[in-house]
Amino acid sequence: MTIFVTGGAGFIGSNFIFHMLGKYPKYRIVCLDKLTYAGNLSTLESVMGNPNFRFAKVDICDREAIYNLFAEEHPDVVVNFAAESHVDRSIDNPEVFLQTNILGTQVLMDACRKFGITRYHQVSTDEVYGDLPLDRPDLFFTEETPIHTSSPYSASKAAADLLVLAYHRTYGLPVTISRCSNNYGPYHFPEKLIPLMIANALNDKPLPVYGRGLNVRDWLYVEDHCKAIDLILHKGRVGEVYNIGGHNEMRNIDIVKMICHALNKPESLITYVADRKGHDMRYAIDPTKIHRELGWLPQTKFADGIEKTIAWYLDNRQWWETILSGEYQHYYEKMYTNRQ
Ligand code: NAD
Ligand code: DAU
Repeated sequence: MTIFVTGGAGFIGSNFIFHMLGKYPKYRIVCLDKLTYAGNLSTLESVMGNPNFRFAKVDICDREAIYNLFAEEHPDVVVNFAAESHVDRSIDNPEVFLQTNILGTQVLMDACRKFGITRYHQVSTDEVYGDLPLDRPDLFFTEETPIHTSSPYSASKAAADLLVLAYHRTYGLPVTISRCSNNYGPYHFPEKLIPLMIANALNDKPLPVYGRGLNVRDWLYVEDHCKAIDLILHKGRVGEVYNIGGHNEMRNIDIVKMICHALNKPESLITYVADRKGHDMRYAIDPTKIHRELGWLPQTKFADGIEKTIAWYLDNRQWWETILSGEYQHYYEKMYTNRQ
């Protein structure tokens, strides 16, 4: 079995590669990644020497390069993590989000049609459902909740989801889609809330909380997300959407305070800054379908997951410090220039 994992040098994709190589010693994993600012090849250092692993630096929008790789490797399964993923950047400059998240998805699915695969899996997000009001804690996103997006990022992810379902209905492509809530854990790029706050707190820098910090996110440890995708690939029904989340809602301000206490840093570092434009208030996933159909349940409690995550950032300072300094972007040239 050969699996193409796109975006595997990013946060969730890399964790997924570690999970799959560890659990299925007979599978071959090919990681396709453009290595944008969010891709960090040093993250994959521990698997580079694994004979079942190959890394290919490629843009999913580059049709010719993608077709060549399909012709060479003939993958059975494609799992598409590759995306521009940061909401704030999408507000600043939407263009590349539409390019990668929508057109890149189309190129991958065209390759799947041309060469034949047994499964195309689209890694989507709960953000396609828009947001929920804070005063209705009884409401949750189900797979039937209408698509109702807020940011250029979520609009691009929703467009991709619709295209994936259209390729299933029109061409019979064997697809599945997962829509997960906010992930946290190792290798999370330090522009996102949790790693940013950990890095800033460790450097005694201000902790920028948008608005009043009352927005709610539904946090899931990244390993639990990877296990859910693994289950969907092996047991999920073709043509179906599966929501993934662990009923772990937290206000941003409470997370930031928790990080301050864990690192023994003063709450006076917290600085309230201008709110994100169009800021979604609350995300909350109803995971009943994946639990009932596939038996998935999250295994990591938030208290344990955040402790492990903070410990990881303390033990792996070099990983995020080279990101903050920009040095990680030279890693590819260092590793691959003049290499036979
Ligand atoms: P990330 O930004 O950490 O990683 C994205 C990866 O995709 C990077 O390695 C980047 O180099 C690569 N990439 C970007 N454009 C590419 C292109 N054109 N061709 C090839 N590679 C490209 O993102 P993440 O947080 O790991 O998210 C992965 C996926 O999961 C995304 O599709 C995202 O929408 C989805 N998702 C993320 C979360 C979350 O909480 N982070 C939750 C639900 C869903
Ligand atoms: O819900 C899934 C989504 O989660 C994924 O689809 C996205 O790819 C992923 O980036 C994440 O989106 P969010 O916008 O929820 O994550 P982010 O870490 O950017 O922000 C989390 C919350 O924290 C959000 O309410 C904004 C707030 N925030 C964020 C940053 C970076 C701050 O208050 N200050 C900050 O500096």
